[in-house]
Amino acid sequence: MSQTHPTMEESIAGLQARREESLYPGKDGSIEKHHAKGKLTARERIDLLVDPGSFLEIGRLRRAPLRSQDGAGERRPYGDGVVTGRATIDGRPVCVFSQDATVFGGSVGQTFAMKMVRIMELAQQIGCPVIGLADSAGARIQEGVTALANYQMVGKKNVELSGVIPQLSLIMGTCAGGAVYSPALGDFTFMVDGTSHMFLTGPEVVREVTGQETTMEELGGAEINAITGNCHHVDDNDEESLASARRLLSFLPSNNVGMPPRFAPTMPRDFTDADYELDRFVPAEATKAYDVLGVIERVVDDGDFFEIHAKWAKSIVIGFARIDGRSVGIIANQPIVNAGTLNIDSTEKAARFLRTCDAFNVPIVSFVDVPGYMPGIEQERGGAIRRGAKLFYGYADAKVPTVTVTLRKAYGGAYATMGSKHSDNDVNFAWPTAEIAVMGAQGGVKIVYGRELLAAMQKGEDVEALYNQRIADYQAEHQTPYPAAERGWVDKVIKPHETRLEIAGALELMEGRRTEAPLRAHGNIPL
Ligand code: HXC
Repeated sequence: MSQTHPTMEESIAGLQARREESLYPGKDGSIEKHHAKGKLTARERIDLLVDPGSFLEIGRLRRAPLRSQDGAGERRPYGDGVVTGRATIDGRPVCVFSQDATVFGGSVGQTFAMKMVRIMELAQQIGCPVIGLADSAGARIQEGVTALANYQMVGKKNVELSGVIPQLSLIMGTCAGGAVYSPALGDFTFMVDGTSHMFLTGPEVVREVTGQETTMEELGGAEINAITGNCHHVDDNDEESLASARRLLSFLPSNNVGMPPRFAPTMPRDFTDADYELDRFVPAEATKAYDVLGVIERVVDDGDFFEIHAKWAKSIVIGFARIDGRSVGIIANQPIVNAGTLNIDSTEKAARFLRTCDAFNVPIVSFVDVPGYMPGIEQERGGAIRRGAKLFYGYADAKVPTVTVTLRKAYGGAYATMGSKHSDNDVNFAWPTAEIAVMGAQGGVKIVYGRELLAAMQKGEDVEALYNQRIADYQAEHQTPYPAAERGWVDKVIKPHETRLEIAGALELMEGRRTEAPLRAHGNIPL
C-alpha cells in the first residue's frame, strides 16, 4: 500500500497545531484557576520580565518520552511544564526558565530538568545571568527515580555556575521539595507575599511526621522566609517582583569577569543640602541610637538603596546602591537594633552578601558603628565563634575595592571584623566622632584602674572625682579616630558632609586595581 506524503499545507498546519497546543499546555480551565489565585502565567511573567519582543524560546516542542510501549493514558504536554529561552533586560542578555504550575503542578520530570539545565548551560556559554521563575511542586512523582536523577543535575549546574554568572530565583507560587534547592544554591531569592510558598515538606507531611498543625503561609510564606533569611526580597505581586529583579540586575555585571554597568553620575560634585544634614544626623553621644538608613540614603545616588534581607538580622543593613554612578554593595551596622551589635545571624547575612559582591566585582562600602559582638549564652552555644568568623573571613578574603567609613563606635573584635585596615581594606575613613578602641570607657576604666579606684575608696578619697578623671582621660586618649589615623589605619578623618564625595573619590582611586589570589583550590571558609 502506498503512503501519501503530507502536502506542504498539511505540514505547516501540523506545525501550527503543535504551536497552539504548546502555548498553553495545561488542562482546560487551568489558566483561569491560576489567574484566580492572583498569579500570572509562566509566559506572562516572562513578558513582564524581559525587554519587549526580546524573548527567543527554545525547547517549546520538547516533551516527556513515553513511559510505556503504547503510551496508553500518558499525558505528555508540549514544553513539559517549563518555558525556557534567552532575552534581554535593559539591552543585556539573560537566560530565563519559567515553571508552569498548570502542567502537573509545575513538577520537575526528566525533560523539564533537561530543559532547565540546557538554558543554564547557555547562560554559562553566553556569560549572562540566569533567572528562574519558580512555581513548582518538586519532583514529578510519576517519573520516580528518573525525576530525582535529572533534578539533581539542576542543582549540580547551580553549583557549577556559582560565582560565574548571577543566579536569581523568583518564587511565584508553590516551591516545594526539590524545587527549593535551586533557589537556595543561587545568589538571590525573591518571593511574592501571599501567593508564594517555599518549604521542604508541606503542611500535610509536617502533620503526619511531627503531629504539628500548620498552614502553607505559616510554614513557608514570604514573610517567614524573609525573617529566616531564606529569601532576600519580598514584593506584593508578580508584577512588582519581576520589576525588582530587573532593578537588582542593574547593579550587577553579566558575569564574574565583567564589571557592573557604570551609570552617568546624577549627583553634583559640590556638597548638597543632604550632605550637610549628615553633620547633624548622628548623635555624638554613643548611647543614642539613629537609623543608619538615613546615612545611606544621604550618601548614595538619588537616595536609591536596594536593601537585601530587610527583615532578617536587622542589626546589620546590606544592599546595593550607586555612588557617582558606580555600583556598590553596602554593609552598615544598624544602631536602632540592639545598638548595632554583631551576632550569629547578622555576621552570616553580611558575610554572604560580601562574598556575592566579591564574586561579581561590586566594591564594598561599609558604615561602621558597632559596640561589639552580642554577648550571651545563647550566642555562644549557637556557635557565635565559628559562625561569626565568616564575616572576618569575608572581609579578609575580599578582592574587590573596599571602603570603610567609621561613623562612631568601632570596638574590639567588631572593629577588627568590620572592614578594618588590618584585613587589607583599601580606604578607611573616620568621622571625628569615631571611637576606635578595645572597649568603651566605663568597661576599660573599671578593668585598668579598678585597683587604683578601690585603694582610693579605702583611703576615703574622692573616688567619684578620680573615676570621672580616668573616664575623661580614657575618652581623650582612646575614643577618637586620631590614634588610628596617626598609625595609618585610618587614611583620612573626614567631616560627615564630605562622606559622599570622599567615597566617590576612593572608588575612582581604585578603579582598575587588581589583586592576584594565591594559588589554591579554594579557601576553607568556616561554613
Ligand atoms: C506530579 C503533581 C505533583 C508532583 C502536584 N501534581 N504535585 N504531579 N508530581 N510532585 C499535580 C497534581 O496531581 C494535580 O494534577 C496538579 O499538579 C495540581 O496539584 P494540586 O495538588 O491540585 O494543586 P494545589 O492544591 O495548588 O497544591 C499544590 C501543592 C501540592 C502544595 C504543590 O500539589 C503538593 O503538595 N504536591 C506534592 C509536593 C511534593 O511533595 N513534591 C515532591 C517532593 S520530593 P491534575 O492533573 O489533577 O491537575 C522532591 C525531592 C527532589 O522534590 C530531590 C531532588 C534532588
